[in-house]
Amino acid sequence: MKKIHCLNAISTYGTALLTEEYELTNQMEGADGVLVRSASMHEMALPDGLLAIARAGAGVNNIPLEACAAEGIVVFNTPGANANGVKELVIAGLMLASRDIEGGIRWCKENQEDENISKSAEKAKSAFAGCEIRGKKLGVIGLGAIGAEVANACSSLGMDVYGYDPFISVNAAWRLSRNVKHITAVETIYKECDYITLHVPLVDATKGMINKAAFDNMKYGAVVLNFARDILVNEADMAEALKSGKIKKYVTDFPNPTSVHMEGAIVIPHLGASTEESEDNCAKMAVEEIMDYIDNGNIRNS
Ligand code: MLT
Repeated sequence: MKKIHCLNAISTYGTALLTEEYELTNQMEGADGVLVRSASMHEMALPDGLLAIARAGAGVNNIPLEACAAEGIVVFNTPGANANGVKELVIAGLMLASRDIEGGIRWCKENQEDENISKSAEKAKSAFAGCEIRGKKLGVIGLGAIGAEVANACSSLGMDVYGYDPFISVNAAWRLSRNVKHITAVETIYKECDYITLHVPLVDATKGMINKAAFDNMKYGAVVLNFARDILVNEADMAEALKSGKIKKYVTDFPNPTSVHMEGAIVIPHLGASTEESEDNCAKMAVEEIMDYIDNGNIRNS
């Protein structure tokens, strides 16, 4: 029997696809393959005989890639499998940053005992007025599966979408060309856009890329959305930018001791891919990749 260890709860829809030559094991030692979602594997010993790790998600920063390469362990991810889930939450983030939904909900809770709440609401609501996103400029940094979904959806919502991705394929650029103005210098996104959304992987070149120098180039009152990885943003600089009003709102899917205390930040607990559909899609793709490699030596999305 070939053995698969799940480091995180992986959708049973995915693990049910394991064929009868496979069994789930509750330890990594002796496993042929590991399925992982967000657990960090950096401090874990990689057992002898491990053939492959499949990350049920896009980012692979929780996996020790160099150690895996040295041991000949193939690492897979699941590009695109959760793109729709993340895109839908980015749209919610745009709305949360533009309309005072949080303030309005809080007001209704605080006034729940008021028998004349409908009348009181008519007086209170001017305090919660927001703005619309139609016609506003959106900069999408990173046009992989998720960035491309966001760009297309926001274009359909009437936003003027600018895209920046120095590594985009010609085919992908062509497919997006009706909806996205391709920008060759990221500074142009900073200078022009009202909303900026990050969809790049976490690598040395992107770590801390949204920092004071970037904020200095941005429009006064810009909104930044981060559904990629928290370390892309220098959050000390972000706290200053929020305090000064340079940045109006920071929507981040990454709670940490800095972000949760930032005035002007809307913090969500890494829910972008947490939908039944995205979890099933990621688990299915991860399981198929790992079996195809172990059974047939085929490498997809490595
Ligand atoms: C991703 O990298 O795609 C996300 O972190 C997925 C997740 O939430 O597990």
